[in-house]
Amino acid sequence: MHALPERPLSTKSWHVVYQGFEPAEERLREALCTLGNGYFATRGAAPEASAGVVHYPGTYVAGCYDRLPSRIAGRTVVNEDLVNVPNWLPLTFRAQNGDWFAPERFDLLDYRQELDLRQGLLSRWLRFRDAAGRVTEVAQHRLVSMDDPHLAALQTTIRAVNWSGALEIRSGLDARVSNRGVARYRGLASKHLTVGSTGADGDLIWSDVMTETSAVRIALACRTVVRASEPARGETHAQPGWIARHLTVAVGRDEAVTVEKIVALHTSRDRAGDGPAPVAAARRAVARASDFARLRERHRLAWARLWRRAHLDIGGGPAQRTINLHLFHLLQTVSPHTVGVDAGVPARGLHGEAYRGHVFWDELFVLPFLSLRFPEVVRALLSYRVRRLPAARRAAREAGHTGAMYPWQSGSDGREETQVLHLNPRSGRWLPDNSRLQRHVGLAIAYNIWQYYQATGDLDFLASEGGEVFLEIARFWASAATFDPSTDRYDIRGVMGPDEYHDAYPGAATPGLDNNAYTNVMAAWTLWRALDLLDLLPPRRQKELCERVALTEDEPARFEDVSRRLRVIFHHDGVISQFEGYENLAEFNWEGYRSRYGDIRRLDRVLEAEGDSTNRYKASKQADVLMLFYLLSADELRALFARLGYRFDRETIPKTVAYYLTRTSHGSTLSAVVHAWVLARSDRLASWRFFLEALDSDLHDVQGGTTAEGIHLGAMAGTLDLAQRCYTGLELRGDVMRLAPALPPGVPGLAMELRYRRHVGLRLRAGPDGVRVGLPPSARPPIEVALGDGPVSTLPPGHTLWLRPGRTDGRA
Ligand code: BGC
Repeated sequence: MHALPERPLSTKSWHVVYQGFEPAEERLREALCTLGNGYFATRGAAPEASAGVVHYPGTYVAGCYDRLPSRIAGRTVVNEDLVNVPNWLPLTFRAQNGDWFAPERFDLLDYRQELDLRQGLLSRWLRFRDAAGRVTEVAQHRLVSMDDPHLAALQTTIRAVNWSGALEIRSGLDARVSNRGVARYRGLASKHLTVGSTGADGDLIWSDVMTETSAVRIALACRTVVRASEPARGETHAQPGWIARHLTVAVGRDEAVTVEKIVALHTSRDRAGDGPAPVAAARRAVARASDFARLRERHRLAWARLWRRAHLDIGGGPAQRTINLHLFHLLQTVSPHTVGVDAGVPARGLHGEAYRGHVFWDELFVLPFLSLRFPEVVRALLSYRVRRLPAARRAAREAGHTGAMYPWQSGSDGREETQVLHLNPRSGRWLPDNSRLQRHVGLAIAYNIWQYYQATGDLDFLASEGGEVFLEIARFWASAATFDPSTDRYDIRGVMGPDEYHDAYPGAATPGLDNNAYTNVMAAWTLWRALDLLDLLPPRRQKELCERVALTEDEPARFEDVSRRLRVIFHHDGVISQFEGYENLAEFNWEGYRSRYGDIRRLDRVLEAEGDSTNRYKASKQADVLMLFYLLSADELRALFARLGYRFDRETIPKTVAYYLTRTSHGSTLSAVVHAWVLARSDRLASWRFFLEALDSDLHDVQGGTTAEGIHLGAMAGTLDLAQRCYTGLELRGDVMRLAPALPPGVPGLAMELRYRRHVGLRLRAGPDGVRVGLPPSARPPIEVALGDGPVSTLPPGHTLWLRPGRTDGRA
C-alpha cells in the first residue's frame, strides 16, 4: 500500500476531504462519512470492503431492533441491538486475469475521498497500478436518497488508462452480516438475521431476510447497469446469504465504463408497504427507479430544501464546516422521513453499533434545537415516547410507584434495555451496570415536551398525548418523593444523576444515591409546569386530559406540595451539592492521575482496573448539577429555588460552576457542550474553548476510538443548540421569545431562520450591535419578544425588531 502523504482536512464549509488511504483511520472515516435519510443509513465503507480489522460496513434502519440472549460471566443476559441489515454496497471489478480491486492489494497512485455535505454525496477518486503495469482510474459517487427514503445509489466510472481488454464487475447484496462493530461486545450474541432467500430476474437481484426474534422482514433489491461502448454480458451468482451480478464488458485503452447500482430497501415495519413481504415493494421500487443522474438531482433538491430550514450561519471559518457536518449527521439520523417511522433518537446516530442503537436522555440535547426548525419531526420523536407510555407505566408500578418511569435505555418496545453487566476493557472484568437508576430520563422527556410547546404553541399536543406523558412523568416524581417530617421536606432516594461515576455510596451494598440535585430540582420544575399545563387548557380539554390520566382531585395539591418542598443539599459555602453526602467524599488527585495516565476521561475504568472506584471521590464524568444551568435560565432558577424556599443568590451559579469545573473529567462528549453553555456569560473564552472541543468531539474523535463505533448525536446537536439558543440567549418562556446575545470570541455573528409559533422563516441575526428579529409577512398573529428579562415588545408579521442592550427596543 502506498498511501499519499496526508494533507490537512479541507477547510471549505461544505466538504470533508480525506487524502490517501489510511487503514488505521478507515473506521472513523466510515462513521463520519455515513449517508442516511432518517429511514436508514449506511456507513461510509468502501464498496469493495468487507467487515474486518480495517473496515466495518454497516447499514441500520431506524427503529429496527432484535433481541438475543448471550452467556457471559456465567450468566445469561439478553441484549437488544439496532440490527446491522444486509449490505447493499458490495461492488468491485477486475481487469482480465487480475485480482478483484481492493486498495490494500494494489499500488495506489492517488486516493481521495470527499463528503459533500450540501449535496449529501460521498465520492471517491482513485488511481492504481496492478502487477502487470495496468493503470486504472476510478471515480465513485454514492447517495442514500433524501428524496425517496427507500432508495440508495452508487455510480462507478472505471477508466482503463493504459490498457484494454475485458473488465469484470461484481455487484452484490450481502446478507451474511452480523453486529460485530464494537470490540467490547464481541462476547455477546451478534447474529440477528436468519438468511431467507435470494433471487434474480434479469438484471434485478434481491435478498430477503428476517430478524431472529423480532421477526422483522428486511428486503433489498438492486439493479446494476453498465454503460459502455459495447454491451455487457451478465450472469448471476448466488450462495447462501449472497447474490451478485457478474458483468463483463470490453474496454478500450483510455476508455471509461460507468456502472450504476440502484438499490431499494424495504422492511415489514413500513407503513403502506407490502406488509410481511417487503421484498415485493423493494423489487417494484428498484424496477421503477430512475437512473443515477435523476436520482441524484432529486436527492440534491431534497437536501436543498432541508438546508434552507436547517442552515445556521456562524460567520464562516473552520467551525462553520463542523457546524454543517453536525447538521448533516443530525438530519441524516432524524429527518422529515422519520415522521412516518416508529423510532426515537439513537444516541450514536444510525452510524454504528455503540450503545446498541439505544435511545437515552440524549434527545434533551437534540429536540430543543429541532423544535425551532422541524417541529413536525420533534412531534414524531416525542410520539416514540408516547407510544411507550404503557411500558413506562408498567415499570413505575413494578417499582412500587404511580405514573410513568421511562427506561434509561430504550429500544423497540419501551422496556428497560440497559445492560445488567458491562465490560471494562482495561481490567477485562464484567461489572454490574447500575446506570438504569438514571430515572432523570423522564425529566428530559417532560422538558422537551414543554420546549416543543413553547416553540410551536401546539396546545393540541399538550391537551392530548403530550400532556398525558407530561402528567404521568410528574405523577411518577410525586410518588417517588418521600416525606421526611424531621426536615419537613421530600426526598428522592436511590437514584443516579447524569454523572455516571457515582452509582452508589462508597462501600454500600445497594446502588443508588439520595437527593441528586439535578433530579430533585428538575422534578420540582416538572411538577410546577404540570400545574401550569393544566391551567393552560380550556376547561373542557383540561377535564378530558384529567380523565384520560385519571388524575384524582388531590393530585394537583400533591404536585404543588412536592414541587415546593423537594430537598436540595448545599455545601457549607452555598455550592449546590451533587447529592446528599457528596461533600464527604475524598478529593481526587487529578494531577497525579493525569501525569500517570495522560487521558483520564474514562477515570471509572482506570480506577476500577486499580481495584478502586470513582464512587469514593469528588470526581464527575460529566456535568450533573451544572445541567440545571444548562436547561434553565438564571431567572427561572431563581424563581424555582424561591418557590422551594432556598436561597439562590448572584453567586450561586458562578460558585457552583467553578467548583465542578475542576472536578470533572469530561468522560462524556455531552460534558463539553454543557460547560460551553454554562460559561457563555461569565467566561467567554473558556466557553469558546469548550465549544471548540465539542465541535472536535467526533471529527477528531476526542474520546479516542469511540466515534468509529457511531457518532455522538447529543454532542453534535448540542453544538448547534449552543449557536442557536445559548449564544443568542434565546429563551422561550411564558409565550415570550427572550433574547440576550453573548457571542464567544470566535463568532463574529449568528444568523438563522426559525419556525416559531407557526411563523415560517423568522429571521434572527445576532451581532456585536445586538439582535434583530424579523417576521415575514403573513396572516399569523404577532409574537412577543424581549431583550433578556426586559420589557416585552410585540412583533407583527412583516416587521423587524432590533434589540440593543442598553437601548430602547426599536422597530427597524
Ligand atoms: C453518558 C450519558 C449518555 C450516554 C449515551 C454516556 O457516556 O454518560 O449521559 O446518555 O453516554 O450518549
